[in-house]
Amino acid sequence: MTTAMRCCHWAVYALCLPFHLLNAVGLWALYKRVFPFCVHRVSSTYNKKMHETKKQLFRSLPEFRAPDRPLTILEIGCGTGTNFEFYPAGSRVICTDPNPHFQKYLQENMGANGHLTYDRFVVASGEDMGLIEDGSVDVVVCTLVLCSVTSIQQTLRETQRILRTGGAFYFMEHVVADPSTWTHFLQHVFQPLLGYLFDGCNVNRTTWKLLEAAEFSELKLRHMEAPLVFVIKPHIVGYAVK
Ligand SMILES: C[S@@+](CC[C@H](N)C(=O)[O-])C[C@H]1O[C@@H](n2cnc3c(N)ncnc32)[C@H](O)[C@@H]1O
Repeated sequence: MTTAMRCCHWAVYALCLPFHLLNAVGLWALYKRVFPFCVHRVSSTYNKKMHETKKQLFRSLPEFRAPDRPLTILEIGCGTGTNFEFYPAGSRVICTDPNPHFQKYLQENMGANGHLTYDRFVVASGEDMGLIEDGSVDVVVCTLVLCSVTSIQQTLRETQRILRTGGAFYFMEHVVADPSTWTHFLQHVFQPLLGYLFDGCNVNRTTWKLLEAAEFSELKLRHMEAPLVFVIKPHIVGYAVK
């Protein structure tokens, strides 16, 4: 971080004092109840703007169906279920999220996407999906989640454990911008505030490096500029095969 960036970062950090205090006394945890409503409101705009990108990304899902059974998809951090409309008809979906308060909105999206079979909703973080058996799913999906997990490496290890050999990990994530840009500067400056408002979201992660380092047999990853607000414009999109 440059000196100017560091100074501005600490200024924003200091302005977040009310949030730090609420967090210290455990009251910020109540925000977990409100956050699903915020995601519900924001995600319909996100899905409209990213509709074509998601459609293209998920087009290849049927290729990962194992013979003699429906495609089994597990979603990490499924939130309100904004990806369901892109899954092939007849797929079996296992939903996971550490925040149980998403269930109301999730049920609405399940109702609206009757072309899928919903197996169960498991309250679990991506780092610990112990309730899911080894090699039991064809596809793992993760969109706008790796910015929030505590450990991307551990989430990728768990993903590789539950995927069958030949199965795929689909991702669409916002990442840190090029260091030469104002977006990069502002991402670092506003990170303390964004972390609170978006429930632990980090806008300055080099997530692609960890995907490249994970031991997948094949990685299809592209960087793109999404038509979104500057802090979450830089995205990576693709899939990795176990
Ligand atoms: C911005 S929302 C995205 C929801 C959904 N994936 C989508 O694309 O609409 C971030 C989601 O990540 C979940 N999340 C946060 N920490 C997580 C963790 N450690 N493991 C799995 N999911 C997590 C949140 O509960 C929330 O549902």
